[in-house]
Parts: sequence; structure tokens; C-alpha cells
Amino acid sequence: MDVAVFSSTRYERQFLDQANQAAQHDLHYFDVPLDMDSVGLAAGYGAVCIFVNDRANAQVLEALHKGGTRLLALRCTGFNNVDLEAAARLGMKVVRVVTYSPYSVAEHAVALLLAINRKVHRAYNRTRDSNFSLDGLTGFDLHGKTVVVVGTGQIGCVFAKIMLGFGCKVIGFDPYPSAQFEALGLSYATAGEFAEQADVISLHCPLTPETYHIINSQTLKRTKPGAILINTSRGGLIDTEATIEALKSGQLGGLGIDVYEQEADLFFRDLSSEIITDDIFQRLVSFPNVIVTGHQAYLTREALTTICETTVESITDFGNKQALKNEVKVN
Ligand code: NAI
Repeated sequence: MDVAVFSSTRYERQFLDQANQAAQHDLHYFDVPLDMDSVGLAAGYGAVCIFVNDRANAQVLEALHKGGTRLLALRCTGFNNVDLEAAARLGMKVVRVVTYSPYSVAEHAVALLLAINRKVHRAYNRTRDSNFSLDGLTGFDLHGKTVVVVGTGQIGCVFAKIMLGFGCKVIGFDPYPSAQFEALGLSYATAGEFAEQADVISLHCPLTPETYHIINSQTLKRTKPGAILINTSRGGLIDTEATIEALKSGQLGGLGIDVYEQEADLFFRDLSSEIITDDIFQRLVSFPNVIVTGHQAYLTREALTTICETTVESITDFGNKQALKNEVKVN
């Protein structure tokens, strides 16, 4: 099939080309994200392949459909950037990568937690500057602390297992309890309780209308003073302005995020010579107890290999009019 690949990066192309060796689809790579400005590039392509910050809203989907696109293949798990109802109305199929490496994201969440708690980022800068003072670098033992996992699906369960290995008490919050989580001997807290009990909160649920700003000023008021918040899921789960207030007051002791509400305007590009006009983001990165990574939690060789192989397989199945294992449908 002819495939227009949007938001494509050099490091990802080698994995996609490798996965496409047998299928030999005609992959056309575009650096730009898919939106109303770039949608014209997709004209004539039967399939369009997108990533987390491409905008597949109704207007873009209509334009794609007019240009002959019939398959939208997401190289990611989350699909909050696609108007599924519009796709269904247009008869356009949407596929995603249901699972690749839950370890990649869970391990990155742990990396953020350890770095924030033990101030690794600050120590790294200090020792490079021959500053061996330990002032301000005190952390806490994770052993014996309470970790709340919000969203106990694939990634949440892997994260929970790792935290159990650290000797933490792990509690879940999820309106749909998972057998895998309960099999670890773990139980759930209610929406009202989870913040009060947590020394660490880690978010592993999808972004939906129900989970939008699941961490807000009310939740933050209820957290234990000094708790650490980790978000490797989607930026919209956190009310960033309320989080900044909680960091300023010391209510929140640290924040590690791989995702940001307005990341589509920033992430995946080198803006080091530009002036960043997003003042909220700039305030966030000014805190010594905040670490931001640019949506790289998934970025391991194992994850990229599976993402690209699954995407190519879905495109092949669609081309051969076979059932789509990874189809996303409107509820
Ligand atoms: P999953 O579908 O296996 O698990 C999601 C869990 O969230 C489910 O157990 C579900 O019941 C739960 N959930 C749904 N609504 C909830 C609510 N209102 N409150 C609490 N929990 C709720 O998904 P998986 O594979 O574990 O991925 C989780 C999320 O991680 C994805 O939705 C995506 O946003 C994010 N992600 C981030 C990546 C990154 O590179 N930063 C890469 C891959 C995924």
C-alpha cells in the first residue's frame, strides 16, 4: 500500500524500514505532524500513519477521506487525538498498537521517580561543576512507602511489580479492577482515598473525558505533604497550573513528567535556539524538583521494533482485506 507517515523521525525510520522489508509497502516519510496545514501531503495515499501529537480531528479526517485515505494507522497505544466518531462516519478504519512494551514505559516512570527522589539530575550538574556539596540532596527510602498506581492495566501492573520489588506498599485506583493487579495480592482505593494515602502517585490510565485533570487542585490538596507525582501517560491527566501551585506551596514534593498538556507545540523538535512562549511550561522547568522528559518513555529498541512490526502488519491486513486485530472502534 501507499502509506504517508507523518511526524516521522530518523531514529524511527530505520525500525519501520526494517519491519517493512517483507511487506514492501511504499512508505513516504514526512517530518511534519498531521494537521489541517499538512493534510494535503496525504492526498492519494490509501493509508496514513500517525503518532501521538498528530491531529486527526473531524476536519482532518474529512480531508484525508477526500484524498482517498481509508486507513489511519497509529504508531502508539493512546488514541485520544483521533475523532473516532468522524472516522466511523466516513467508513475509515483506525488501528493502533494495542501493546508493545509495557516495560519501556513502566521502567521510565521508575527512572523519573528515582531521579526526582534522589536528586540525580542535580547531583549530575553539581559534580560536573566540581561542586560536591550534598546540601539539598536528601531523599527518602522508597522501602515501606505507599505508591498509588492510577490505572492498573498493562503498564500500571508492570510498574506495580517493580515497586513491590522496592518493598513499597502498592495500592491501585481504577474503576475497572484488573485480575492481573489483584493476582499480585494488591487492592484498590476509592477516588476520594487514593491521594491521602500516597507518598508516590504514578499515572497509567488513558486520557478520556473522565480522566481529564484527574489530578487537580482538590486532589492535590488531599495528598500527603511532600508526595511525588509521576505522569508518563498523557499530559491532560494533570491540571498543570494547579500542580505548579502545589509545587510552590511545597504540598507536592516532586514532579516527574514525560507528557505535558500542551506538548504538541513543543515536543519531538529541537527548539533550543527558539524562545519558548509557553510560560506555564517555563515555570514548570524552573523548579529544582521537577524533571520533564519529552515523551520518550516508550523509546526502547524492543518497543520500537514491536510498534513498527505491528503497524506494518495492520497495514498489510487492511490491504489484504483481512480482519484487523488492532482496530479501534467507537464505544
Ligand atoms: P491499558 O489499557 O492496559 O490500561 C489502562 C488502565 O487505565 C485500564 O486498567 C483502565 O481500566 C484504566 N482506567 C480507565 N479509566 C480510568 C479512570 N477513570 N481512572 C483510573 N483508571 C482508569 O493501557 P496501558 O498499555 O497500560 O497504557 C496506559 C497509558 O499509558 C496509555 O493510555 C497511554 O496514554 C500511556 N502511554 C504512554 C507512553 C509514553 O511514551 N509516555 C507510551 C505508551 C502508553
